[in-house]
Amino acid sequence: MAEFSKEKKTILSGIKPSGELTLGSYIGAIRNWKQLQEDYNCIYCIADLHAITVRQDPALLRKRTIMQLAQYIACGLDPEKNVLFLQSHVPAHAELGWVLNCYTMVGELNRMTQFKDKSAKHADNINAGLYDYPVLMAADILLYQTDLVPVGEDQKQHVELCRDIANRFNGVYGDVFKMPEPFIPKLGARIMSLSDPESKMSKSESDAGCITLLDRPEDIMARFKRAVTDSETCVRFDPVNKKGISNLMTICSAATGMTFEQIENQFAGKGYGEFKPFVGEAVVELLRPVREETERLLKDKAYLNSVLDNGAQQASYLARRTLSKVYRKVGFYSTDK
Ligand code: TYM
Repeated sequence: MAEFSKEKKTILSGIKPSGELTLGSYIGAIRNWKQLQEDYNCIYCIADLHAITVRQDPALLRKRTIMQLAQYIACGLDPEKNVLFLQSHVPAHAELGWVLNCYTMVGELNRMTQFKDKSAKHADNINAGLYDYPVLMAADILLYQTDLVPVGEDQKQHVELCRDIANRFNGVYGDVFKMPEPFIPKLGARIMSLSDPESKMSKSESDAGCITLLDRPEDIMARFKRAVTDSETCVRFDPVNKKGISNLMTICSAATGMTFEQIENQFAGKGYGEFKPFVGEAVVELLRPVREETERLLKDKAYLNSVLDNGAQQASYLARRTLSKVYRKVGFYSTDK
């Protein structure tokens, strides 16, 4: 079990198991989580409650959930150092979510860009959960008295809303919630699709330019070779005019540790025909151990289940402390002495 220390700051983040984990979520989120596990109290959930805001196949959701846990561990998140759990295993998330609904304004939710995007994409299923999604995310964060929330850029607006909700609640009842900060990586906060560098790499089926952590090396190579770039031939970082190449350079830097300058120097005078497979190979090598370790872990369901049971137990204990305080503050009657 992960040990928590009062001296360390607390980190919480999560990913929805609504699709395969992508290279975007790896570079934008998980890669950074791994680096934090020594210095912070780290709590990571698999956000299955959030996943059903879009219609899911139940059997597939179950499969993706356990695969996501295996991938968290395969990416280097040690269950002895991090609390890893399923959101649906800790009822306090839904409970606090309800209370926070009563401290969130409809006007605030109307401003959420992800709600607008998702409603456009799922016009036949604009359900109340999709609308209310950021409030549940605020509950995830505030339950653990979180200091930092490491996420990609697309989640920044949700963390800001979480702060507004916490401020409002604290304004009425005193300092109940710690004020969390978004923690956005300098490199790779927004990895773009390989087939459309104007849009975010996403796990939705419509994104042919998406790489997932379990993709086969030949598929990864093929997608990098087909990556959309521009009509020049020069490998140069320019995210305004050369979005495709800049995205590939970001991925390359994340996968190899090379700086943009080193990449530009190595490929000076060489065309994209050499650069694209170079990045593809770097990604294949980055993901190979993750894929192999995931496959190995998936054979040991008993171990994975024990990680989830321990995680839920530890998360529930921490979450209950905050929830009890919230219930007391808002005036719910308790039979406890
Ligand atoms: P989700 O599941 O859409 O994405 C998970 C994490 O991956 C990051 N990410 C990316 N980063 C860079 N480039 C990309 N192309 C890319 N795609 C995804 C996301 O920013 C995110 O950090 N609501 C959240 C899940 C969640 C959560 C939370 C996060 C639930 N509760 C509490 C933080 C705290 C979501 O849908 O992320």
